[in-house]
Amino acid sequence: MNRKRVLSGVQPTGAIHLGNWIGAIRNWVELQKSHETYVCVVDLHAITIPHDPKLLAKNTLSTAALYVACGMNPKECSIFIQSHISAHSELCWLLNCITPINWLERMIQFKEKAIKQGENVSVGLLDYPVLMAADILLYDADLVPVGEDQKQHLELARDIAQQRINSRFSLDNREILKVPKPLIMKDSAKVMSLTEGTSKMSKSDPNENSRITLLDPPDVVTKKIKRAKTDSYLGLEFNNPERPEADNLLNIYAILSGSGREVVAKECSSMGWGKFKPLLTDAIIASIEPIQTRYKELIADQGEVQRILDQGKEQAQEVADVTLKRVKTAIGLLGNAKANY
Ligand code: TYM
Repeated sequence: MNRKRVLSGVQPTGAIHLGNWIGAIRNWVELQKSHETYVCVVDLHAITIPHDPKLLAKNTLSTAALYVACGMNPKECSIFIQSHISAHSELCWLLNCITPINWLERMIQFKEKAIKQGENVSVGLLDYPVLMAADILLYDADLVPVGEDQKQHLELARDIAQQRINSRFSLDNREILKVPKPLIMKDSAKVMSLTEGTSKMSKSDPNENSRITLLDPPDVVTKKIKRAKTDSYLGLEFNNPERPEADNLLNIYAILSGSGREVVAKECSSMGWGKFKPLLTDAIIASIEPIQTRYKELIADQGEVQRILDQGKEQAQEVADVTLKRVKTAIGLLGNAKANY
C-alpha cells in the first residue's frame, strides 16, 4: 500500500529555535518512519521581508544541515531547497490567479508582519500563504506537521485546493489537488518566549534572550534560562492563566526530559524557580548537544549536505512536475509535446 505523504518546511531566516524544533521538526523525525516525507528549506518565503543576501545562502545550507542533525534521514525522506524546484513558483502563480485577495488580507500573520514592515510591505508578503499552499499541494501531501501559528495558512491551502481548483476545474469529480490536513500536536504546538510567556517564541523577536536556538552553547543556554521571566508564586504548576511562564517552562521540561506533564506536575508542585531552572537547563543542554555534535560534522563536510540536497531535489522534482502538469492541463493551458514534465 502507498504510504501517506508528509510535507513541511522551515524558513532560513535565522537559527532554528526550540519552538521550531519542538513544534515541527521533532514530529517530522517520527513521521518519516511511517510516511513518505518531503521537507524543504523555504528560502523563497525568507525573502518576503527584507533580507541580507550574504546571509540567506549560508542560513539555507545551515538549516538543511540542521534538519539532518535533528534526525531527518536522507535514506527515509527527501530534503530539498524550495527555490531549487521551480514548480513551487509556477504553481504559486496559477494559484494566485484563482485566490481572492481578501482571503490573503485577513491572514493574521500577514497583518502582524505588515505592521512591523510599515511602508515597506511587499506583494510577496501578502502572497506568502499562496506560495505555502503551492509547497504543500505540489506533493499531494496528506499531512502537514506544523505549529499552531500555521493553522490559518493550512486552512487557506485546503480552501484553495477544494473550492478554487477541485470544485471549479474537475470534470469528473476526481481531485486535481489533494486536500491536506494539518498535524498540530497538542502540547508542543506553541512554545512561548522566555521573556514573555504570552508571546510565541519567534526568530524575529529582537531580544535574543527570548529564545534558545539549537546551536546555543551550554553557557548561553544557562544564561538565557537564568534570565527567563518567572513569577513570585510558591510552587510550580501548569494551566494557571495567571502564570504563563510557569506553564511554558514546565511544558518544555516535560517534553525534553521525556517525563510528560503528569510526572512533571507532581515533581515540581512544591519546587521553587531556583531549584527548577537548573533542571530545565540540564534537560535542554542534554537534548540539543547531540544535534550540535552532528551539525558540526555536517557543516565541516558541506559536500555531504550538498549531496543530500541534490538527491532530495531529484526526488521532489519527480513528484512536483506531475502535479504541476495536472493543474496546468485542468485549467486549460495548452500543453507542449516537448515539455519534459
Ligand atoms: P517558520 O520558519 O516560521 O516556522 C517553522 C515551523 O516551526 C513552527 N513554529 C513553532 N512551533 C511551536 N512554537 C513556536 N513558538 C513556533 N514557532 C514556529 C511553525 O509552526 C512551523 O511549523 N510558513 C511556515 C514555513 C512554510 C511551510 C510550508 C510549513 C512554508 N511552506 C509548507 C509547512 C508546509 C513557517 O512558519 O515557517
